Amino acid sequence: MEKPTGSALMEKLVALCRRRGFIFQSSEIYGGINGFWDYGPLGAELKNNLRDWWWESMVHNPPAGPEGRAIEIVGIDCTIISHPKVWEASGHLGGFADPMQTCRQCKRLFRADHVPDLLEESAWVKSFFAAPDLKRWADKDGKKLAPGLALVRNFAATLPKIGLATDQAGRLRAAAGGDPCPECGGDLTEPRQFNLMFETWVGAVRDDEAKAYLRPETAQGMFFNFKNVVDSTRVKIPFGICQVGRSFRNEVTPRNFIFRSREFEQMELEFFVHPDEANLWYQYWRDTRFRWWQDLGLAGKNLRIRDHDRDELAHYAKDSGGCCDVEYAFPFSGEKGFTELEGIAYRSNYDLTQHQNVSGARLEYFDQDRNERYLPHVIEPAAGLTRGLLAVLCEAYTVDPTRPSPELMRFHPRLAPIKAGVFPLVNKEGMPEIAEQLYADVRRQVGPAQYDAKQSIGKRYARMDEAGTPFCVTIDGETVTDQTVTIRDRDTGNQIRVVLDQVVPYLRERVGRR
Ligand code: GAP
Repeated sequence: MEKPTGSALMEKLVALCRRRGFIFQSSEIYGGINGFWDYGPLGAELKNNLRDWWWESMVHNPPAGPEGRAIEIVGIDCTIISHPKVWEASGHLGGFADPMQTCRQCKRLFRADHVPDLLEESAWVKSFFAAPDLKRWADKDGKKLAPGLALVRNFAATLPKIGLATDQAGRLRAAAGGDPCPECGGDLTEPRQFNLMFETWVGAVRDDEAKAYLRPETAQGMFFNFKNVVDSTRVKIPFGICQVGRSFRNEVTPRNFIFRSREFEQMELEFFVHPDEANLWYQYWRDTRFRWWQDLGLAGKNLRIRDHDRDELAHYAKDSGGCCDVEYAFPFSGEKGFTELEGIAYRSNYDLTQHQNVSGARLEYFDQDRNERYLPHVIEPAAGLTRGLLAVLCEAYTVDPTRPSPELMRFHPRLAPIKAGVFPLVNKEGMPEIAEQLYADVRRQVGPAQYDAKQSIGKRYARMDEAGTPFCVTIDGETVTDQTVTIRDRDTGNQIRVVLDQVVPYLRERVGRR
């Protein structure tokens, strides 16, 4: 049995995530709500570990900068709702929109640029192209799978138009009488711009004055707090401000599990530099962020960095080092093969200029070393925490039919939600007492652990493998006499004997506890 790919892999992964308490559909007992996901006990730990690793590598212990200089980054934590003028200044109110199409038959909404992929996955499209006889198909399968399709609703008038089409896309359009709906086969409206901002009202009166928005990105908090941070800390250019937090986008077609959701988490850094050094720092962050994802275990052929083509660049990045994406080969990445995990953008001084103009506050920085006043330029590595989590889950999912659990999660030990399983081989002969003491020590000094005395040792290993626990420690008959235990490695299945009082240091070193 090999590791499945594509939608088969996603099905297995989603099922494992639910079964083992990584990720649940939000409000599942009410039928769920599209685009919202909850993180269960293992998922919350895994997400926190990924977040903490990012924070550690940004705020507490960032790598040395170019030429080996130490760099300075401070972390902040801003509100989800801010003054609505923030979004006027950032351009989100005017321009943060996706083209949307509505099905005239079933009324569903689709992001226009997602329609081709959705059609490729659509059950009715596959069945339509496989049908040897379109009349029989329209009367039977077509009625069930594509009740909105013009060919199904009005066979005689539609069939001749299909005959005129020269390629597959043309046949589909002819069968639908326009852009086809991936769900019911109906025809889609022309694309219209749809703003992705979630609206709310602040206070008791629901009028335009009270209108506010849930943030669609965490980045703006770093810009409108730029002056506060400069005035209240000792940071000097070049320096960064970063935060991790929730963002909200009313995505037209949330899809692919937690990849594109309506509520998600981001980890964003705004790194402020002198304009003359922008290209140097852009290159630094491009390399550093790629390496960070590799260090987590996404190394190899599933990870790549892609520089944007010139026509993809935002207007403020056109004259600079540019923008790039760290991309991962998600199982649903389709023909392109890779999709975005993190964007690294050179944003010039666009955002500070906008906030200065709209707020009227002076945001220039006085550079004592250069004796110069200027609006700093910005390099922005903007990563998705929840999207990163999905990449980690996809990479970790492993199939090994020779094990008691044929599915296991090979997380980096530092990310693993449970660091060690602690088992007494049998529930007698002094073993539970030693195991309970060790369990308490591991929890206190290493991290989350699980005590398990139920069923065979093989079944206990299987439970831990599925949860991605890197080590299992077993207290057996020998422990009672010579104070040694076995430690089993999740990835190799190998066991070594270690002296009891060396278990905690052994585990601490391997799970990245300093
Ligand atoms: N401040 C820049 C910014 O927000 P972005 O490319 O729109 O840039 C950055 O978002 C990252 O946030 C993306 O690379 C992705 O990982 C994550 N992200 C964006 N929209 C998302 C969504 N709907 N669901 C999950 N993650 C999302």
